[in-house]
This record gives sequence, C-alpha cells and structure tokens, in this order.
Amino acid sequence: MNDELQALRAEADSALAACADPRALEALRVGLLGRSGRLTLLLRDLGKTAPEARRERGAALNRLRDELAARIEARGAELEAAALAARLAAERVDVTLPPRPRENGTIHPISRTMEEMAAIFGAMGFAVAEGPDVEDDWRNFGALNIPEHHSARQDMDTFYLPGEREGRRRVLRTHTSPVQIRTMLASPPPIRVIAPGRTYRADHDATHSPMFHQCEGLAIDRDLTLGHLKGCLIDFLRAFFAAPALPVRFRASYFPFTEPSMEVDIGWNRRTGEIGRGGDWLEILGSGMVHPRVLANCGLDPREWQGFAFGMGVERVTMLKHGINDLRPFYESDLRWLRHYGFSPFAPPMLHEGV
Ligand code: DAH
Repeated sequence: MNDELQALRAEADSALAACADPRALEALRVGLLGRSGRLTLLLRDLGKTAPEARRERGAALNRLRDELAARIEARGAELEAAALAARLAAERVDVTLPPRPRENGTIHPISRTMEEMAAIFGAMGFAVAEGPDVEDDWRNFGALNIPEHHSARQDMDTFYLPGEREGRRRVLRTHTSPVQIRTMLASPPPIRVIAPGRTYRADHDATHSPMFHQCEGLAIDRDLTLGHLKGCLIDFLRAFFAAPALPVRFRASYFPFTEPSMEVDIGWNRRTGEIGRGGDWLEILGSGMVHPRVLANCGLDPREWQGFAFGMGVERVTMLKHGINDLRPFYESDLRWLRHYGFSPFAPPMLHEGV
C-alpha cells in the first residue's frame, strides 16, 4: 500500500473513532465509499494508472475498500449498542426498592363512624338516605309531631334562616329526623334507611358544638314491633363497640315523634371509660315506634303501616369508642390530631373483620 492510501486509511481511522452517532458515521461512509466517495473515485481512476502498476493498485484499493466497509459496519454496531445501553441506564427501574413512604391523608373519625354505621346497618338491609342541611320548619318540626309552641322547638336552640320555602320558615336542621319525613314522602314502604349527617344547634361549649352529626334510622313495614327495634339496636351497638356481650338497657322516655319512646343505655365504667363492663349506664341514643300521626303526616295509613325510628349522636359514640374526651379537636383540623385519630383511606370498614 502506498503512502497515499496509508494516509487515507489513517484519516479514515481517526474519523471513525471520532464518529459519535449513526448520522456522522453515515456521512463518513458516503464521503469514502459513496458514489463520489474518495475511495470510489480512486477506483474509478484506476484506468489512468500505468498498466504495470494497475493490478497491484487495484488489489490494494479493493482491500482498503472492503476493510473500511467492514470497520464502518462494526462501528455502526458499536454505536447502536452504546445507544441501547445508555437508554437502558436512563430508564432503569429498581423493582426491588421498598415503597417510598408517602404522606396520605386520613379519614376523619366522624366519617369513619358514619361509614361503620352504614356497614353494620347495611348488612341488616338498611340503605343510606340523605337530606339537606337547610330544612323547613315543617319537616324539621311540624311533620314530626312537634307542635308550634312545643318546648322542643326552643330546647333545640334552632338556627333560623331569613326567607321562606314554600311558605315555611327555613331552619338549619336541628336533628336528622326530617330525613324520616323526606324518605316516607319519597317512596312507599317497606322502608329501611339510616340517615347520617350534619345537624345544627345554637350551643357551644366543651361538650357542644353548633354543628355536630347524628345518625337517624327508620324502618317501616306492616308488622314491625318493639322487638325488631330492640334486636336491631342491640346488634348494632354490639357490632359497633366490638363487644359481643355489651349490656344494653331500654328505658321509657318521651319524644313527640315516637310512641312508645325509649332511651337506650349501654353498660360502661364511669371511672375508667371502659365500655361493656363496670356497672354504670350511659345514655347513647333515642328511639321508639313511629308515632301514628307522623305516619299520617307522610300519607301512610297507621292501621296498615308501622315501624321504628332511632337517632344517635355520631360524635358521642366516636368519642366513647376511641377514648377521645374532648369534642373541640374534631373541628379544629389539627393535622397532629387527625393523623393520630384518623383512619387509613385504604382500609374501609369491613363487616367480616368487625368494624
Ligand atoms: N331527633 C332526636 C334528637 O335529636 C333523636 C331521636 C330520638 C331520633 C328518637 C329518633 C327517635 O328517630 O325515634 O334528640
């Protein structure tokens, strides 16, 4: 190989080494071996070479062409492999890494309790019903057999709103009982619903908040009795407090919308706060057989339909169940409190595990 070819080869060598991507490599190939590439032109000019040198030069040129073609191809494969390796490195995922701890929100204890109530009563065939926070005084009082000048209207420290709806005064509902009225007016019996939700009374101290939560219950059918009421509530309370032998006591009481009416107490220890043992009684909820006048107010014939109702404070049972002794932090949105008392959103109440 003469000097000229040696020089061309050395030049091609360093150009090859400098080629960093397939496009540069292709440009190099075209420059050497393309139709007017340098080596191609040299081969074409072979005819101008003196005949005695032609054979040798031709062989040398051909060798160099084959050599360069092979090296360009090899370099191409190298660049391709390097590109793939770089991509694999960039997209690498270590599937053996433990999950990174991520900050999740928590389910507020009030929401949790209402979900648990829906789960327990749901298993007994109760659906969840809803009503608006802004009610009218007929659904909140009148239809529930609470007359105009009845003390309950004052006792409940009602928030009245300006304006009227259908000629009735607007109120923030003082209890969830108006959902009973809405449910009976909306669809014919049989009815089995609970109605958890917000309620309002002008009352504010360590144990009262102007906004709090209740859960109403209503069952209407042809032959429901006090026995059904007692069975449902005993089963609910034992499931909710996860205490299969929880003592439950029914005490005669008075509510305008039930007859007879009963308050329900559970056994606990006043000193330690322990539920289910200790010989003390704690009032938990109100209940009774739906008053015939309430049925009639909703267009149901009390000779054909009867049923039971109950209402309980959500905060109260939540505090008892989880040993929370102050009502105020429920509404303060203190993240430390919420993280401590909140529940995982990924573990909703499951009845088969006990709620
Ligand atoms: N509404 C009553 C209250 O707020 C609670 C209540 C008592 C609801 C007896 C009922 C019931 O459905 O039957 O104090």
